[in-house]
Amino acid sequence: MARIADHFDPNATIVLYEGNCLTLLGTIPEETVQLVVTSPPYNIGKEYEEKSSLSAYYQSQKRVIEECYRVLKPEGSICWQVGNYVDNGEILPLDIFLYPIFQELNLQLRNRIIWHYGHGLHATKRFSGRYETILWFTKTDDYYFNVDPIRVPQKYPEKKYFKGEKRGELSCNPLGKNPTDVWDIPNVKADHIEKTIHPAQFPVELIERLVLSMTKEGDWVLDPFCGSGTTQIASMIHQRKAIGAEIEKKYVEIARSRIMAAEKGELRIRPMERPIYDPSAKTPSIHPKIVHTGKSNKTVPLSPIDLNRQFKNNSVIETSLRFAKSIR
Ligand SMILES: C[S@@+](CC[C@H](N)C(=O)[O-])C[C@H]1O[C@@H](n2cnc3c(N)ncnc32)[C@H](O)[C@@H]1O
Repeated sequence: MARIADHFDPNATIVLYEGNCLTLLGTIPEETVQLVVTSPPYNIGKEYEEKSSLSAYYQSQKRVIEECYRVLKPEGSICWQVGNYVDNGEILPLDIFLYPIFQELNLQLRNRIIWHYGHGLHATKRFSGRYETILWFTKTDDYYFNVDPIRVPQKYPEKKYFKGEKRGELSCNPLGKNPTDVWDIPNVKADHIEKTIHPAQFPVELIERLVLSMTKEGDWVLDPFCGSGTTQIASMIHQRKAIGAEIEKKYVEIARSRIMAAEKGELRIRPMERPIYDPSAKTPSIHPKIVHTGKSNKTVPLSPIDLNRQFKNNSVIETSLRFAKSIR
């Protein structure tokens, strides 16, 4: 069983701190964490934040980001997920606003990931907003990144070279393709299986992609504004350790109960491999997954190859499977 500590403890596997993240951050030794991933308050007056002046907001984000930088390992990454600050109908994209803080720290921007989703407010005086961004920074050039665990199915998995030395061999990577920097992942709205009372919850699969590609098993992942504990869930189901701070007691309770449910194998999440719902699709959608943190009986996600097989089920995929095994 994971040991859930309420303060930073190097021997714990999960840290869930109730209080201001700056207090928790001050107790974490420098260069401890492999990945910082968070969605901070946007200063738009949600129930968990007090709207302040933009300069006060900027300064408070700066203090937290500087501390995240201090605790980050040299090969580590910071993923800051934000949307827009809105004032009287005028929008300010927060990634643009906050970028100078990261730049001053000499962090290197690797991707500006567009997280596109289908549901949200219907605007009347501008186009309805349907994306937010994740700024992915690394601390140095010597950073850890492995795209293999998060490859997605190829569009034409059976495509082969038609001439030359490789004639007849598969021309695309049988493990799947790079998911690119535009991610289509449903946001957690009322009928989403992961929905809690938190008004701004991450979908687990969004964080799984970052955890799987930017960390190794046993690494620490940190979310200074952890809300309902999504970052801890995405980390623990892949055998990473996670630290989170949350200032609101009711969200800490939710995070704790989700972590416990994952421990017991009772937490339902939307699987990473599940395609966006398409009412006209002839193939059935993949069912929700029940996750478990125990190594021996964890639910193993379908690989992109299994997924291709499920959807295409032809002998070419069998060939690609054999090929994938041979290169492992
Ligand atoms: C955008 S939400 C994050 C939601 C989270 N990603 C999830 O999946 O549930 C931001 C969270 O930060 C919390 N928060 C705000 N200021 C904080 C602070 N100084 N320290 C810790 N948590 C804080 C809020 O209560 C809120 O739950």
